[in-house]
Amino acid sequence: MSESQSGPTGPDLAQGVAVDTLADGQMIGGHVGDDAVLLARRGDEFFAIGATCSHYNGPLAEGLLVDDTVRCPWHHACFSLRTGEALHAPAISPLACWTTEVRGERVYVKEKTERAPHIRVVPTRDAPGRIVIVGGGAAGFAAAEMLRRQGFDGSVVMLSDDASPPVDRPNLSKDYLAGTAPEEWVPLRDENWYAEQRIDLRLGAAVAAIDPAKRNVALRDGTTIPYDRLLLATGAEPVRLSLPGMDLPHVHTLRTLADSRAIIAQAATAKSAVVMGASFIGLEVAASLRTRGVDAHVVAPDKRPMARVLGDAFGDFVRALHEEHGVVFHLEQTATAIDADRVTLGNGKTIPANLVVAGVGVRPRLQLAEAAGLALDRGVLVNEYLETSAPGVYAAGDIARWPDRHSGAAIRVEHWVLAQRQGQVAALNMLGAKQRFDAVPFFWSQHYDVPINYVGHAEAWDETAIDGDIAKRDCVVRYRKNGRVLAVASIYRDIESLQAEVAMERA
Ligand SMILES: Cc1cc2nc3c(=O)[nH]c(=O)nc-3n(C[C@H](O)[C@H](O)[C@H](O)COP(=O)(O)OP(=O)(O)OC[C@H]3O[C@@H](n4cnc5c(N)ncnc54)[C@H](O)[C@@H]3O)c2cc1C
Ligand code: FES
Repeated sequence: MSESQSGPTGPDLAQGVAVDTLADGQMIGGHVGDDAVLLARRGDEFFAIGATCSHYNGPLAEGLLVDDTVRCPWHHACFSLRTGEALHAPAISPLACWTTEVRGERVYVKEKTERAPHIRVVPTRDAPGRIVIVGGGAAGFAAAEMLRRQGFDGSVVMLSDDASPPVDRPNLSKDYLAGTAPEEWVPLRDENWYAEQRIDLRLGAAVAAIDPAKRNVALRDGTTIPYDRLLLATGAEPVRLSLPGMDLPHVHTLRTLADSRAIIAQAATAKSAVVMGASFIGLEVAASLRTRGVDAHVVAPDKRPMARVLGDAFGDFVRALHEEHGVVFHLEQTATAIDADRVTLGNGKTIPANLVVAGVGVRPRLQLAEAAGLALDRGVLVNEYLETSAPGVYAAGDIARWPDRHSGAAIRVEHWVLAQRQGQVAALNMLGAKQRFDAVPFFWSQHYDVPINYVGHAEAWDETAIDGDIAKRDCVVRYRKNGRVLAVASIYRDIESLQAEVAMERA
C-alpha cells in the first residue's frame, strides 16, 4: 500500500536542473533535502509540490499533468500545482509547495511555502449557519472537511449510527483485514481533528427521522437538531440472506470497522472459511483470509467472478488469480444452510467452515429519505447539484441517483472515490456554489498484488476491446456501446486509465 521508505531519489532540485530537461507539460521527481519534490512545467511556469500522494503515497511523477493539476496514478486523486490542495478525493490532505526560480538556463526549487486552498464559495446573505450531515462515511466525512476547508464558520453536526469515527472503508477488506496494515491507518482522521475543526461528530447517534418542512432532524434518543442545510449520506448496508444458520456467531457481513475486527478475531482460530458472493468485497475478503493462512472457499451463483462488471475475460483472469493463491471456487452454486462447522450447498455438497462471510451485495439505506417523502427511484433522486426534491436537502454517496452527463442516464454507484467527490461537491453547493456534479465514476479493487482500476460506468456493452494481455497483468479493456467507450478497466496501465478519465470528462 505504501512505497518503500528508502528516502527521496532523483536530482537535487535545489541545485537546479536545465530548463530544457522539462518540455511543456512534463514533470520530474527529485528532492530538496529530505523532501521528495515534483517539478512540473506548464508553458513558461514551473511548479514544485510534494512528490508523494497524500492518500496512499502514490508516486505523482508517474501520474498525469492536466492543466495546472497533477493526477495520482494509483487512485486518481487530483492536486493543484499552484497550491498543493487536494482538489479531488481520495486524497484529502494538501501537499507542500516550494517556490521556483529560473536563472539563466536552469530552474531551481527554493523555499517551502504554505499556500491557502482556493476558496470557491463567496458567502452570500442567505448563507447557511447550521449544516447537519447524516452519515459518517465517505461522503459525510468529505463534505464536513470541505465545508471547513472553504472557511465555513457556522455549525457542522455529523451524525453517525456507527460507533467508530469515519474510517477508510476500502481498507476493511484489504490490507487491514489481511493483517498487513495496522489499525491506526484505518480512521480517516484522529479524534482531535474533529474538535480542532469544530465538527460536532456524534457517534452512535441514530437518526430516526428528518423533517424537511420544519428543517430538523430527530435522533432515536429524542433529541431534535435544526438545520439550514442537510446532507443525507447514509450509505448502504449489506444484504442479509434468509438462510438457516445466518444468525450463528461465526457468520459475518462486512461494512464497518467492528465487522472487520470481528472477522479478524474469528480468523485467528478458523481453519476454513466460506465466502458467499464472488463480488469485489467477497473476493477481497477471500484474498485477505488466504494471506492469514485460512482456507478460503467462494460460493456464488455466477458463472464467472466479477463478469457482470468486468466481462468474461477479466472474470476468468480473476478466478485464475485467486486459484493461484489457493482459493477454491464453487460457482453456479448457492448455500442452502449454515451449521457451526460447515456450509451446505444447493447440490448437497458440504464445505467445512468455522468462519462464514456473506458478501452478496448491499442495499442503499433509504428509510429516512423515504419516510420524509423525498423523491426516490432505487436511490434518492438528486439533480446535477446533488439537491434532493426537498429544498435545502442534499444527498451523496451510495444512496444518490444523479443525472450522469457521461452515460446520459440517472445512475447510482457504490464507489468510495465517487462518494467522497459527491460529498465535496454537495458541501460547496450547500454553501451556495451551484457546482454541477460531473465527475467520471472511478473505482479500484486490489487482489493480492494486482490492482484493478476502472473509470466510467457500463451497465451493459456490446463490445470489449482488450489492449495488452489480462493474464500478464498488463492491459486496458475498453467497454463500448454503439461504438462509444463507456468504461475502461486496466491493470498496471495507470497513465492510460488517467487519460481515459480525462477523455471522458472532456467528451
Ligand atoms: C469492505 C468494503 C470495501 C470497499 N472497497 C471499495 C474499493 O476498494 N473501492 C471502491 O470504490 N469502493 C469500495 N467500497 C465501497 C465504498 O466504501 C462505498 O461506496 C462508500 O463507503 C460509500 O460512501 P457513503 O458515504 O455513501 O456511505 P458509507 O461510507 O457507508 O457511510 C454511511 C454512514 O451513514 C451512517 N448512517 C446510515 N444510516 C444512519 C442513520 N439513520 N443515522 C445515523 N447514521 C446513519 C452509517 O453509520 C455510516 O457512518 C467498499 C466497501 C466496503 C464495505
Ligand atoms: S495513492 Fe494517490 S490516490 Fe491513492
